[in-house]
Amino acid sequence: MQYQVTVIGSGPGGYVAAIRCAQLGMKVALIEKYPTLGGTCLNVGCIPSKALLDSSEHFYNAGHTFKEHGIDIPTPVVNLPQMIKRKREVVKANVDGIAFLMKKNKIDVHTGVGSIIDKNTIAITSAEGTKNITTEKVIIATGSKPTPLPFAAFDKKRIISSTEALELQEVPKHMIVIGGGVIGMELGSVYARIGAKVTVVEFLDSLIPTMDLTMGKELQKATKKLGMEFFLGHKVTAVENKGKEVIVKAEPKNGGAAIELKGDYCLVSIGRRAYTDGLGLEKIGIALDKGKIPVNDHLQTTVDNVYAIGDVVRGAMLAHKAEEEGVMVAEYLAGQKPHINYNLIPGVVYTWPEVASVGYTEEQLKEQSRAYKTGSFPYKALGRARASMDLDGLVKILADKNTDEILGVHIIGARAADMIAAGVVAMEYRASAEDVARMSHAHPTYMEAVKEACLAATAARPIHM
Ligand code: FAD
Ligand code: NAI
Repeated sequence: MQYQVTVIGSGPGGYVAAIRCAQLGMKVALIEKYPTLGGTCLNVGCIPSKALLDSSEHFYNAGHTFKEHGIDIPTPVVNLPQMIKRKREVVKANVDGIAFLMKKNKIDVHTGVGSIIDKNTIAITSAEGTKNITTEKVIIATGSKPTPLPFAAFDKKRIISSTEALELQEVPKHMIVIGGGVIGMELGSVYARIGAKVTVVEFLDSLIPTMDLTMGKELQKATKKLGMEFFLGHKVTAVENKGKEVIVKAEPKNGGAAIELKGDYCLVSIGRRAYTDGLGLEKIGIALDKGKIPVNDHLQTTVDNVYAIGDVVRGAMLAHKAEEEGVMVAEYLAGQKPHINYNLIPGVVYTWPEVASVGYTEEQLKEQSRAYKTGSFPYKALGRARASMDLDGLVKILADKNTDEILGVHIIGARAADMIAAGVVAMEYRASAEDVARMSHAHPTYMEAVKEACLAATAARPIHM
């Protein structure tokens, strides 16, 4: 079979690239080694984790906030197998949706492992054997896999990655989480909400350390209320599966007494690595750079007809970043001049309160020696937050000291994940803090905190503080 474009990997990078190529009139093949489409994001990432975050949040509220709202119910009991079953149904509806989109766009889906034979030939190997297809262009979108600790492999029973943590059939008594990044905090809070003791061991001195440091500090305060415990600045030295128990040893980076934790599950969430196993990159002379496929500004590899997108290339490992790159390559192949502003790709942590951010952090601005000013506004001063009892959180705006242009928007609080889109729009159009402060924001909404934080940044004159 002869194609104009062959996409290897059906995650949010690959399937979106395939659709955009098809929309632009190309004949497209999509190769996926698993029986369902959608990649990490739909099968074992974004979607199942959000399904469990939503279910566990309902459970937590039923037991903790309903009474104050005037809703008396018997003490709720968690039914984890049902939560997991519902999560699987949510995943199925989503992956079936992608299969439908492939048919609608007349994209040929090939199930099997795609392996490069030469720059125009791809072998597809499945239980039925191996077949070859030929192609003018190749888009590699093979994604990523969890990184194991160098001294303790995933045994998938007690020492687990996010994939197993999304399928547990019992509530852990004590889950030890190694890595207080996005996965550690999202899945850690799922299990803390449904009754597990959760202890997080993080190497750096802050949770979610790639975000503005204020966010990590506030998130730590908020999640302590769930009973989560934290050992920041700790280096893990050993993790041992002892049958029904797992033992984690760690020592403070800056000296002090070592700790030993005993739990029944250890979730290792210390990052993910680009996945290129069995892809045959060496056959066309592509060498990895720091574990990732090197690409130029057009996402083109060192081989002129081969492109790579998503988690397998540099940049944030996020579904919407992969999607933008999929669209960009498709449009570039069609002769257009697409562009991505990587600084304006938002990052979100779906804990409660949610954390969301776009643009520069305060730490980055300091590093750049950029003259900046800040404005903050707390959720607890919002009428909307009092009504919903979501008082934790704040909005922090960073703006250029001289021009007032917004340089960063950082939100921790209810609905931050949805609110950050307004920050992206403002920054895409290079709004000043005063521009946003002068726009009418509906009352009562959480978004009023963004307006007030902009007022605070502009002229230190928030109305409601
Ligand atoms: P992937 O989604 O990893 O897809 C790659 C696909 O390629 C896979 O299906 C794989 O089977 C296939 N493949 C690999 N090699 C071959 C081969 N040789 N032949 C055929 N097929 C192959 N991001 C967000 O933006 N928001 C979130 O809320 C979020 N939550 C997450 C929660 C968890 C628990 C995890 C683990 C990740 C989460 N992410 C989230 C990250 C997000 O899932 C990834 O950034 C995204 O899936 C990357 O997309 P991709 O297309 O590059 O690769
Ligand atoms: P991460 O990079 O977010 O966090 C890893 C954390 O582990 C960091 O804080 C790091 O300092 C720490 N760490 C590293 N080595 C350690 C060690 N040996 N001991 C203790 N701590 C250590 O990675 P995570 O959480 O595994 O997620 C992987 C990727 O998946 C992320 O890049 C993220 O972008 C993506 N993801 C996105 C989500 C979202 O957008 N909401 C949700 C979940 C994952």
